[in-house]
Amino acid sequence: MLLANPRLQYQAYPTELAALMNSEQERLNRQYWAAWDDMAVMPTPVYDLPDVAQDLGIARFSVKDESVRSPLGSFKALGAPIALLRHVLRLHPEWEVAQVLAGRYRAQLQAHTVISATDGNHGRALAAAAQALGCRCVIVLHAHVSAEREAAIAAYGAEIVRIVGNYDDSVLEAARLAQAHGWQVISDTSYDGYEAVPRDVMQGYATIAAEVLAEQNAQPYTHVLLQGGVGGLAAGVLAYWWERCGEERPQFIVVEPEQADCLWQSALQGQASMAQGSVDSIMAGLACGAASPLAWRFLAASVDYFMTVSDAEAIAAMRQLARGSERDMPLLAGESGVAGLAALNQLAANRAQMQAMGLDAQARVLMINSEGATAPSVYAEVVGERAESVLARQQQWLQEHSR
Ligand SMILES: Cc1ncc(COP(=O)(O)O)c(C=O)c1O
Repeated sequence: MLLANPRLQYQAYPTELAALMNSEQERLNRQYWAAWDDMAVMPTPVYDLPDVAQDLGIARFSVKDESVRSPLGSFKALGAPIALLRHVLRLHPEWEVAQVLAGRYRAQLQAHTVISATDGNHGRALAAAAQALGCRCVIVLHAHVSAEREAAIAAYGAEIVRIVGNYDDSVLEAARLAQAHGWQVISDTSYDGYEAVPRDVMQGYATIAAEVLAEQNAQPYTHVLLQGGVGGLAAGVLAYWWERCGEERPQFIVVEPEQADCLWQSALQGQASMAQGSVDSIMAGLACGAASPLAWRFLAASVDYFMTVSDAEAIAAMRQLARGSERDMPLLAGESGVAGLAALNQLAANRAQMQAMGLDAQARVLMINSEGATAPSVYAEVVGERAESVLARQQQWLQEHSR
C-alpha cells in the first residue's frame, strides 16, 4: 500500500531541527567510534544489484549492508552505544572521553543501572555498550521477542525482565521500573519529557547517510527507502541527507509492516500516532505500535511516500536477496532488513505508479539492509537455508567474480 505524504514540502533543513541533530554531532560520533576499541563498529559496504535493477526497470539498485556493521549484526550498533556514552558524559562532564571509552571508570559506573525495552536489536546493542563501559543493564522484553533474541542480549550480561503484552507495553514497563528504582532509561523512542537520549540514538544512525554521501559519485541517489519501526532510523538517516543536500535531497520512502503502520497513521493524522493492526509482524524490529514523537518531527514534511508491506512480501525479498543471481551477489538480509526491496517489488506490479514516483529507467535507488540473520533460526526457517550457507555462497560468488 502506498500513501503520498499530504504534508510534503521541499525546503532547506530547518534551524529548529538542526539544533537537535546535525552533521557536526555526527562527526563527533565518528571520533568516539575511532577511539572505542571494545565496540567494533565498521563502515559498511554498498552493493549494486544490477539484475534486481533490471527486473524493476530502474537504472541502479544499491544495498547499504548494515548486517556487517558490527558483531551485533544490525545498524542498531550505531545508536544505543553512542547514546549511553553521551549520557555518561552528561553525568560526568569532568571525565575524559578516552578514559571512559577505555573502561577506566568501570568501578564508578557499576552502581549505575540503565534500562530499556527492545524488540531485540536495540537491547542487544545497549547491553554490549553497558558491558563495555561497566554499567549494570536491565532489558525489558515483550511476549513476542524470541528466546533466541533474549539469549543474544543476555550474552552481554544484561538482566532480562519478561512481560506479557507488546513492544509499547515494554516501553511503559521500562519507564516504570526506571522511575521506581532510580535507573536511567536509554530508549530509542521518545515520549513526553524524554527526548535527549532518543535524539542521541537517532543521531548515531546518521553515520549511515554520512558514509553513503562520502562515497557517492557524480550520480546521486534519486530515491532512498527507509524501513520504519518507531521512526528513529528513518529520521536519523534522512536528517543528515536533508541538512547536506537541502532541496536537492533524494525522495524518501518509508516502509512499515502492514500490521504496524504507526508512521503511515501519523502521516494521515498529522501527528505522531498509533498503528492500526495487530503490531505483530515477522519483521520484529519494525513491529512498533507508536511512532516516536521526536522522530516524527523530522519525518512529517520530508518523507515523500509511506508504504506498508506484508510478511509474505518480506519473506519473498529475503529469499530473493539470499539467492542472488549471475550479476547479483547473494546477501544475508534479515526480516526487517528487506523492507525496502519488498516495497519495490510490490510497486513493480503497477508500472504506471512507479513512473509517477520517478522510479523509472533513470532512477538510482538505495535501500538499507538494516540487519542480517539476527534471529538465526527464524532466518533459516523462512529462507530455507542457514545464514552460514548463504554467506558461504556469497564468498563463492565473490571468488568467481573476482576472476
Ligand atoms: C533491523 C531493524 N531495522 C529497522 C528498525 C527500525 O528502527 P526504528 O524503530 O528506529 O524506526 C529496527 C528497530 O528495532 C530494527 O531492529
